[in-house]
Amino acid sequence: MGTGAVGAWVGGCLAAAGVPVHFVVRPARHTTLQAKGLTLTDLEGRQTRLPPEALQLHPHPPDGLKPSLALLTVKSGDTQGAAAALSAALPAGTLVLSLQNGVDNTRVAQAAAPGLVVLPGMVPYNIAELSPGHLHRGTSGQLVAQTHPDVIPWLPVFAQALLPLKLVPDMAPVQWGKLLVNLNNPINALSGLPLREQLLDADLRRCFAALIHEALQVLKAAQRTAAPVTGLKPDRLVRALRLPTPVFRLLAQRMLRIDHQARSSMADDLRRGRVTEIDALCGAVVALAHQHGLRAPMNERVRELVRGWPHAPHPWTGRELWQAMASSLQPLRPPTSKPTP
Ligand SMILES: NC(=O)c1ccc[n+]([C@@H]2O[C@H](COP(=O)([O-])OP(=O)(O)OC[C@H]3O[C@@H](n4cnc5c(N)ncnc54)[C@H](OP(=O)(O)O)[C@@H]3O)[C@@H](O)[C@H]2O)c1
Repeated sequence: MGTGAVGAWVGGCLAAAGVPVHFVVRPARHTTLQAKGLTLTDLEGRQTRLPPEALQLHPHPPDGLKPSLALLTVKSGDTQGAAAALSAALPAGTLVLSLQNGVDNTRVAQAAAPGLVVLPGMVPYNIAELSPGHLHRGTSGQLVAQTHPDVIPWLPVFAQALLPLKLVPDMAPVQWGKLLVNLNNPINALSGLPLREQLLDADLRRCFAALIHEALQVLKAAQRTAAPVTGLKPDRLVRALRLPTPVFRLLAQRMLRIDHQARSSMADDLRRGRVTEIDALCGAVVALAHQHGLRAPMNERVRELVRGWPHAPHPWTGRELWQAMASSLQPLRPPTSKPTP
């Protein structure tokens, strides 16, 4: 459900492994995929070609279809509408795996589709559309989903599709861990640089580290934990990001195993003038802070800058961005209004 970067990649890998996949795709993309089909490549040298006739494309979830698994792969702002459309078309009890970022999409989708069973999942890697219909996985990692008996039969299928999938009983720490890493998305988007180049800029790393550090304080106050998704525990990640670039380059070799073309999808959204997921990322940190009588001023500031981009599109240098963030810097303090109980 949603054939953008993640939907086309995961659905495409499954289809290439022989799974009958129905892609729900909006009109503009439908035209592209009908003309070009899908090409899937990755940093390990994968080259998979799915010609247009190999793709079953639908403008809406087709009535009468009884999928044993639906993958929800729209951006956070589209979750409610997409889940409602699935709810209208699919039999009650259908399993829906949300492969979205953010910590609230499963709740939103489940509320919009109360008859379906919505599970949280997590995609750890970056997938970019290098040209129309050409999806490229630019980093590595393993898909994660919440443990559920109906997902277990899918494990060998995902493995065969070169999409190794791990199940965990509690996805909340994984989702928060991924959210912390995704706090780089707005920094990357505002910088206008490819991910690797941006991570090799000490000032831009300092901005990213500051957002994570602030979010960790909020999580601590909320008594929540964040799982490591980069191989480094989040507090160590903050320390690593603050190292001088030559040392960071040596220590963070796994993190820097990104090919030169990868950018965050928020960068694409800003470039194309689309709604971003900033509210699901920095906004989630700000909201959690408020729930606990705190503020998260750096995340607030970055949210403002991303929201303001359409009015003043201009790539920020690391120094400019750090100054803009630092000017909001105050110790976490209670908001002026009363906290939400
Ligand atoms: N890209 C990555 O590297 C990556 C990695 C990990 C996780 N994620 C997460 O995965 C989720 C999806 O991201 P993405 O990068 O794949 O986004 P994307 O490329 O924008 O793809 C989302 C697609 O869903 C379509 N869509 C939205 N509502 C729909 C509906 N009701 N019916 C049919 N199609 C609909 C969109 O169409 P329109 O374009 O016409 O709106 C778009 O083609 C996000 O939460 C993202 O944060 C992304």
